[in-house]
Amino acid sequence: MADKEYTDPERMEKIVSLCKRRGFIYQSAELYGGLNGCWDYGPLGVEVKRNLKEYWWRRNVQEREDIVGLDGSILTHQAVLTASGHVGGFSDPMCDCLLSKARLRADQIEPQSGVAYHYTGATEGEWSVDREFAVLLREGQDENKARKTARQFYAQFHPDKSLSPKALELAGESTTEEEGTTRFNPENGSLLTEAREFNLMFRTQMGASSSEDDPNAVAYLRPETAQSIFTQFKNVLDTSRMKIPFGIAQIGKAFRNEINPRNFTFRSREFEQMEIEYFCRPEDGLRLTDEWLEDRLTFYEQIGLPREKLHVLDVPDGERAHYSKKTYDIEFDFPFGCQELEGVAYRTDYDLSKHQEHSGRPIEYFDEATKEKFIPHVVEPSAGCDRTVLALLCEAFQEEEVTDAKGKTEVRTVMRLHPRVAPIKAAIFPLLKKNEEQVRISREIQRNLGRFMNVFYDETGAVGRRYRRQDEIGTPFCITVDFETLGEEDPELKDTVTLRHRDSMEQERVAINDLLPRLLDEIQ
Ligand code: GAP
Repeated sequence: MADKEYTDPERMEKIVSLCKRRGFIYQSAELYGGLNGCWDYGPLGVEVKRNLKEYWWRRNVQEREDIVGLDGSILTHQAVLTASGHVGGFSDPMCDCLLSKARLRADQIEPQSGVAYHYTGATEGEWSVDREFAVLLREGQDENKARKTARQFYAQFHPDKSLSPKALELAGESTTEEEGTTRFNPENGSLLTEAREFNLMFRTQMGASSSEDDPNAVAYLRPETAQSIFTQFKNVLDTSRMKIPFGIAQIGKAFRNEINPRNFTFRSREFEQMEIEYFCRPEDGLRLTDEWLEDRLTFYEQIGLPREKLHVLDVPDGERAHYSKKTYDIEFDFPFGCQELEGVAYRTDYDLSKHQEHSGRPIEYFDEATKEKFIPHVVEPSAGCDRTVLALLCEAFQEEEVTDAKGKTEVRTVMRLHPRVAPIKAAIFPLLKKNEEQVRISREIQRNLGRFMNVFYDETGAVGRRYRRQDEIGTPFCITVDFETLGEEDPELKDTVTLRHRDSMEQERVAINDLLPRLLDEIQ
């Protein structure tokens, strides 16, 4: 049984560093100090992301008769999100550290025990401040730490900003025993503000004449792609002649003003979702939720996430979203712990009913066979595209010791990305860049394969170095055009190349004409 608490921060650091060094993922606006919670995908990252989205789309829309696609707008009418409950309820409890001003999710603070030192204020000469403050000391901590922290807190209010906090006299010290409290910042012991609900949606104004106060001009950046699927359900039904059960799929950006974006791209403020709303009869909802769970687990295996690193959490009553009667979280063993990759939720008829009620327009489905009218129920497999890319990168990263032909040992960094999602499928090398014929043939292979997949031509450095560069970015195949290709050593080997496999490092001779079908078979 896997240890769900296991973390490996050193490994994670190496992955983040490789992502930047090789052009997978950069911090957004890094030039200006970075935009917290936002990320830009570089030349390689964008390819992994596109491959993932294309495979998801192919498998769920193209290869199925019962699912159609949608691309809804990101700017969302406030009425949509009022009906869905997001305007009133899409919030996290948040509190601020009175000392450092750090903002924390109140529900994520670990309960602590110890002695709280309370103060009523501080003085310095004629100056004084009356304000309650407290510091929690855990067992073994010196009481002077509490006083030092309290002085730092009160010094913020002193007009002389250069004054040493040591000059302040503390007032009204008293202590209380605390058991399992979440009122103090675990980082520095400082008292936190009371928790407040903080809506996670990004609000914006629409139209040239819009003013801050004009309620009709308010729109939101969507917090999930799902809502446009619900609001367009009737249009899709009327225009595509789908019959229940059927699904609508969408891939697109979603935005949440997360209080604590963290763990690289894992919790971002701008991210992409891949969602399906699968509409069904009420009596089929629970069964289809189980079936979708299995289907989604298979999907993750097909892109290279091993089954033993995927965990299913049957979210208990009381912890599910308000609309859900059943939710499975698919979790993955990231280097920062076992965390959610996707939710498979049975949303019942909650959303369609709400939109029917708020819009005053009928959204019912008419079943020709039974002559019944009803609001369909819905099962929602909702995956995070960025989280899946992160899982793929984390799973692929490996450092291994290899020994070269001369017996020298070195560390090989290899991204064992599944060929389906690898950013570059094949690299093509002429053995010698000065050999015109080798270069000509290599360029021709590059042109022919490049019409079907992403390939890369490289002629610089020793072949061994070129292999290593490709290993580090996850290229599953390297093709070398050498003297044998020219038929100079053995006429039978004319028009063949060396095909080198990234994971095993094995090499084989393959006819140039066989390259395309061989590679297509591996990457599809
Ligand atoms: N429509 C349902 C819905 O949005 P969710 O569990 O809030 O449900 C679904 O989100 C998936 O979207 C998550 O499992 C995760 O993969 C991704 N996701 C949610 N919030 C995210 C964030 N702040 N950053 C990156 N991905 C996120």
